[in-house]
Amino acid sequence: MPRALILGGTGLIGGAVARRLLANGWEVDVSGRNPVRVPSEIAAAGGRFVAADRGDDAQLRAALGDGADLLVDCVCYTAAHARLLLPLAEDAASTVLISSRAVYVDDEGNHSNSDVPPRFDGPIRETRPTLAAGDMDYRSREGYGPNKVAAEHVALDSGLPITVIRPAHVHGVGAARPREWVFVKRVLDGRGAVLLARGGAGLVHTTAAANIASLVETVAARPGARILNCADPDAPSVLEISRVVARHFGHAWEEVLLDGTVPDGLGRTPWDSPHPVVLDTSAAEELGYRPAGDYATTVAAELDWLSEAARSGDQAGILPKADDPYFSRFFDYAAEDAFLAGRTR
Ligand SMILES: NC(=O)c1ccc[n+]([C@@H]2O[C@H](COP(=O)([O-])OP(=O)(O)OC[C@H]3O[C@@H](n4cnc5c(N)ncnc54)[C@H](OP(=O)(O)O)[C@@H]3O)[C@@H](O)[C@H]2O)c1
Repeated sequence: MPRALILGGTGLIGGAVARRLLANGWEVDVSGRNPVRVPSEIAAAGGRFVAADRGDDAQLRAALGDGADLLVDCVCYTAAHARLLLPLAEDAASTVLISSRAVYVDDEGNHSNSDVPPRFDGPIRETRPTLAAGDMDYRSREGYGPNKVAAEHVALDSGLPITVIRPAHVHGVGAARPREWVFVKRVLDGRGAVLLARGGAGLVHTTAAANIASLVETVAARPGARILNCADPDAPSVLEISRVVARHFGHAWEEVLLDGTVPDGLGRTPWDSPHPVVLDTSAAEELGYRPAGDYATTVAAELDWLSEAARSGDQAGILPKADDPYFSRFFDYAAEDAFLAGRTR
């Protein structure tokens, strides 16, 4: 039985990888700090939890034991993290480092965390230039991308068979930031209209955690040092995402497609972008990767997970709170109602 160790295996991406590997006959260990975070179905399927802080090399070494056929790192944010990964990767047949599309820059040097949104000239290939490597605080907006680049460099310069995977906006059960909540909550609140900035044309590519899991399994069978984008086979716009959610719950609402003349902030969503951000996934496909499904298919479980949490009082605390700094800006119902009322006067 092949064995995998997934660092950060109780989170969104690690959990999806664990589920897929367990279903396909792997022995799977998932690491993290808090055993309470192990999803019950992963434990039920035989997944084992190993306590290991990502910054503690002795704990990481103990978690790996005698080695693994596959090592997946979902907690690699800096060059220092990557340096701790290398000795483990020496004892793994194939290693995956989860990076991000946030590393890419456009021709002007803009990127997903710059004040000026990036403008790419088409689907982004892995050969596209990235930010320069950096070591500022990786938890900051400015530091996330440069630190990911630095981590990638350490991994790829090692000569070890480490595959860097760059996802876009990841969705799935277990998301710490479940972006679809902006539409699910509106459905649950019985909103009769959904307002969408830029006519709903915003597009930041979605990536199902289940599709990352499929790519990881492909990489397990074909170890190598490389970079691979990972995104859903379709690239839904904000309007299409809103429709997927409404259709899933059988909810009808008026689509109010806003132009540039409405108050700033109205109709915003997490996928807003003045220019499309789409990942080219042909390199993964050439390696043999086949997606688990398109956006609508793969997001369904997350939509049910969110609505069930809301229905049952959210004992596990998975839903964003009303004062969540990321989500609260998307829920100004008063401004929406004022706009809708003004429109009909
Ligand atoms: N989510 C996205 O939209 C997205 C997009 C692009 C790239 N990525 C990248 O994908 C990777 C995984 O993201 P995710 O969304 O799956 O994250 P997540 O859901 O927040 O999961 C993080 C996992 O890491 C563990 N962890 C966190 N800090 C740790 C530490 N100090 N020591 C040991 N374990 C630790 C967590 O468990 P404990 O808290 O119990 O330790 C959990 O298992 C990240 O590197 C991220 O940069 C994510």
